[in-house]
Amino acid sequence: MERLTSPPRLMIVSDLDHTMVDHHDPENLSLLRFNSLWENAYRHDSLLVFSTGRSPTLYKELRKEKPLLTPDITIMSVGTEITYGNSMVPDHGWVETLNNKWDLGIVREEAGKFSEELKLQSETEQRPHKISFYVDKSKAQEVTKELSQRLEKRGLDVKIIYSGGMDLDILPQGAGKGQALAYLLKKLKTEGKLPVNTLACGDSGNDAELFSIPDVYGVMVSNAQEELLKWHAENAKDNPKVIHAKERCAGGIIQAIGHFKLGPNLSPRDVSDFLECKTENANPGHEIVKFFLFYERWRRGEVENCEAYTASLKASCHPGGVFVHPSGTEKSLRDTIDELSKYHGDKQGKKFRVWADQVLATDTTPGTWIVKLDKWEQSGDERRCCTTTVKFTSKEGEGLVWEHVQQTWSEQSEVKDNSSWII
Ligand code: GLC
Ligand code: MG
Repeated sequence: MERLTSPPRLMIVSDLDHTMVDHHDPENLSLLRFNSLWENAYRHDSLLVFSTGRSPTLYKELRKEKPLLTPDITIMSVGTEITYGNSMVPDHGWVETLNNKWDLGIVREEAGKFSEELKLQSETEQRPHKISFYVDKSKAQEVTKELSQRLEKRGLDVKIIYSGGMDLDILPQGAGKGQALAYLLKKLKTEGKLPVNTLACGDSGNDAELFSIPDVYGVMVSNAQEELLKWHAENAKDNPKVIHAKERCAGGIIQAIGHFKLGPNLSPRDVSDFLECKTENANPGHEIVKFFLFYERWRRGEVENCEAYTASLKASCHPGGVFVHPSGTEKSLRDTIDELSKYHGDKQGKKFRVWADQVLATDTTPGTWIVKLDKWEQSGDERRCCTTTVKFTSKEGEGLVWEHVQQTWSEQSEVKDNSSWII
């Protein structure tokens, strides 16, 4: 958050499973569409927040399975754990507030009396301020009622949330995704960084609270669960700030950005002609996202005869410009572009995707931009990531010139293999 010197233009607070991530789409297309939109138009001045029911352990697993961007803030375990930045620094202040009228031992003891109905979830999902079970749909309401009465009698103040037609979470009353968001908004406000707009996105019961935080726009994705739609019909039907999208998962988030006019909503992945984007070239982040998208399509054999684009790309490389491969070898930028022609369609029909994460540009001296990003490449079941630094220069009235590109293997990369890594 420190990188922002003024209030963020947009803060997206999104659930992951069945909202940002479509588990029914092995190609991850809507997620990849969201990713390029975010890196292209929002990363530099906005905040991305993931708010998931998953514990840190399961959250990290999901990140390995799916092409998720790196959020600025991560809220896990149904709003009971908040962390900041890449290194996920925990918010200890938030945790302290959750100890009020909460006692893990008593919750376990009382819940244990429902051993017929409640089946404990895996150990990783039991957290200091969250105890989670599976429960049959037909029993959920009755158990929730009885258990809350028992816990109240024992002097606790808890919140019981039912999600996805099977999960039952017990949390301190002050916890939950909505309370965590309210806390975050308050904190941002005191720092003078209250977002201009906030959009909450979700699909299931534990997301309902997100939609009752004042001044927050909300989208329930088209595939939202019955329990969330029921909650909406009973509690927020007349709130024009909350919509039920027509599109699934991340497609619904993009739809909501357009519906509420929160900013650009055309993903670069929805543009087929690269030369069409030419006019906006003065933005170095845009140049990067567009290039790596072209690179993916080129190797997938989805763009034909793109000589016009490669020629314009070559023309925008400085004649003495150098590309430093992660292996350490250096090549001229123009030769690197020429070499690309050999790889046209080599990934045709294969699982091959490329995405940029954390694209951030700084203009240290006038007319010079340094752009840093993580460039990810998925090929089959292997994923690799290179930290990439690009230096651009721009002259008044002219486009950007690629001066220098340097890549090093990222620590996040599962495979650090130089073979077949082109750019
Ligand atoms: C995630 C968590 C699980 C929780 C559910 C609903 O799936 O892993 O523990 O019950 O979200 O909040
Ligand atoms: Mg969900």
